[in-house]
Parts: sequence; C-alpha cells; structure tokens
Amino acid sequence: MKHSIVKEPVSLYTADDGLYTPEIGSWGVQKYNLVALYDELFSTGMKKKWNRRVYIDLFACAGKARLKDGGKVVLASPLLALGVPDPFDRYIFCENDRKAMNALQTRIRKHYSDRDVHFVEGDCNELVDQIIAKIPRYSKDLKVLSFCFVDPFSLILNPAPRGWRSEKKG
Ligand SMILES: C[S@@+](CC[C@H](N)C(=O)[O-])C[C@H]1O[C@@H](n2cnc3c(N)ncnc32)[C@H](O)[C@@H]1O
Repeated sequence: MKHSIVKEPVSLYTADDGLYTPEIGSWGVQKYNLVALYDELFSTGMKKKWNRRVYIDLFACAGKARLKDGGKVVLASPLLALGVPDPFDRYIFCENDRKAMNALQTRIRKHYSDRDVHFVEGDCNELVDQIIAKIPRYSKDLKVLSFCFVDPFSLILNPAPRGWRSEKKG
C-alpha cells in the first residue's frame, strides 16, 4: 500500500474489499492525486525538522471511494496519508458516520496495524478538545508539527474560539 509520487506516479487504484465505499465523481482522481502529493511533500519535507509529525483528518470517511463513472475504487485521504514513504508519527481520524468509521477502522487494522492511529467517532465540531488532547504536547524537547486535513461537504467557519463548523447542504 506504500506509494511515492516523487519517484513514480502514485497508484490511486486499489481493490474492492467489499467494505463500505462511498461514490464520488471523476474529479476525485485529481483531488486524491493532489492530496497524495501534498501528504508526501509535507511528511518527507518535515521529517528532519520535527520530532513528531501528526496527521489529523477531521472528515475522514471510509478510506476508499468508488468512482461513479466506471466503478473503479481509489484510495481516499486516510489511506493516502498512511501510505506515504515517510509516515507520520501519529494519525488522528474523526468521522461522524458509523458505517464509514467502521470501514475505515477495519481497513486500517488490516493494512496498518503497526501505526499509531487514534479514532474519534462523532461530530468534529463538538469534539475539538478530544481531538486536541490526542496531539502530543509540544515542549522545548519535543517539537510537534500537525497537518490537519479538512474536507467537509461544505464549510461554515465558527467564530467561537478554537471552533470550526461544517454542515451538509440540502
Ligand atoms: C467530503 S467527505 C470526506 C472525504 C474524505 N476526506 C475522503 O477522502 O474520502 C466528508 C465526510 O465527513 C463526514 N462528516 C460530515 N460532517 C462531519 C462532522 N461534523 N464531523 C465529523 N465528520 C463529519 C461525512 O460523514 C463524510 O464521511
């Protein structure tokens, strides 16, 4: 499942494992190529400068997605972040849909059981403190850098301190 888009083109395409896999439009291929590139640039570029690199996905979903056009299955943001050549030191995934969270957990247990992964099930708007508590504490001896991927259906920024808000349209 490891990929590298610096040395060779990333392979987004993956097997249908029968678990919950939401459908997306064909634009998803471009989105996931960009996400994979950014994950890799960040995780590799920062690995020597920081003691702990933390990946946070606030709207993680299921880890795989199916293209509406053609039905091929692609790796989605959580599995792309886990598959970078220089993995993050910790991963935190928040998701409020039970079936998406179950599929994500099953996939990660199967492919990345050796990684330091934390799951937060529920509304990321309400669970800010729980999510922040899972980030290692920065100190002068422990430099911690977080990469937070925010990929909601639509976004409404919450003016409240330390908050964010999202909601689905329609
Ligand atoms: C656009 S999708 C994210 C796609 C994901 N980044 C991927 O690559 O597959 C948005 C996801 O956020 C979840 N979601 C929506 N509102 C949420 C909230 N307030 N807190 C946590 N998850 C939420 C939805 O269930 C959905 O799985």
